[in-house]
Amino acid sequence: MKVSTAIDSRMSCRAFLPTPVSESTVRTILETAKRAPSGGNLQPWHCHVLTGEPLARFLDVIGKRLAHHPRGEGAEYDVYPPGLTEPYRGRRYKCGEDMYATIGVVREDKPARLRQFARNYGFFGAPVGMFFCIDRQMGPPQWADLGMYMQSVMLLAREHGLHTCPQEAWAVWHQAVAEFLALPPTMMLFSGMALGYRDEAAPINRLRTDRAPLEEFASLQGFPASENLTKAQPPGPRPASS
Ligand SMILES: Cc1cc2nc3c(=O)[nH]c(=O)nc-3n(C[C@H](O)[C@H](O)[C@H](O)COP(=O)(O)O)c2cc1C
Repeated sequence: MKVSTAIDSRMSCRAFLPTPVSESTVRTILETAKRAPSGGNLQPWHCHVLTGEPLARFLDVIGKRLAHHPRGEGAEYDVYPPGLTEPYRGRRYKCGEDMYATIGVVREDKPARLRQFARNYGFFGAPVGMFFCIDRQMGPPQWADLGMYMQSVMLLAREHGLHTCPQEAWAVWHQAVAEFLALPPTMMLFSGMALGYRDEAAPINRLRTDRAPLEEFASLQGFPASENLTKAQPPGPRPASS
């Protein structure tokens, strides 16, 4: 698979088939992803994988706690900055609206929205649940490294015919996760990730999220004007001179 195909076909999958994923596939993905770069080659990523009986046991623990604490224990870090400003606020809102639209849930139907959100805590039915953790001494640069490792995992999953959903939703269950995984106090949870085979029939998986145009987030300087003109042309046969 071409890198561009892996990038373009990756999406946050929110309904999986129960089809198991083999240990060798998961190992290959995690092993290959370790070539991700990290400042000073710190390799600050720590990954915990659950499937089968341990996953069922873990989800049972969470299910019981969810019944009493539907909002979880509270997160250790801000999943979004407080007072998020534009354009980010609007993007977040639109992404939520577009997602609920795929399953016909209107804004006013809070119970249906909560039910959909709660599927995070079953890894959306995926047969594999992963947790990505980082040593508490690490700062933003190493968190970025961890993100690069996670993206590598997500792209490699595509190469194996699998899909993923990164899940910060697990941040509100950090104590339960730490307890179950017996994490040392020096380690903190960043994000979960569901891994498995996409349910092609599930309407929620039809969501194709927006992206801002290049001009909104990138500035390019110094390229010759003639090259810019060539780049701006739509894909197709190149002029003989290029
Ligand atoms: C670190 C991270 C955490 C995320 N957490 C969640 C989550 O808890 N639940 C969820 O449904 N989606 C989650 N997402 C998915 C984003 O909503 C999604 O990436 C974004 O809307 C773009 O859509 P796409 O991934 O389908 O391209 C997360 C994404 C990232 C990168």
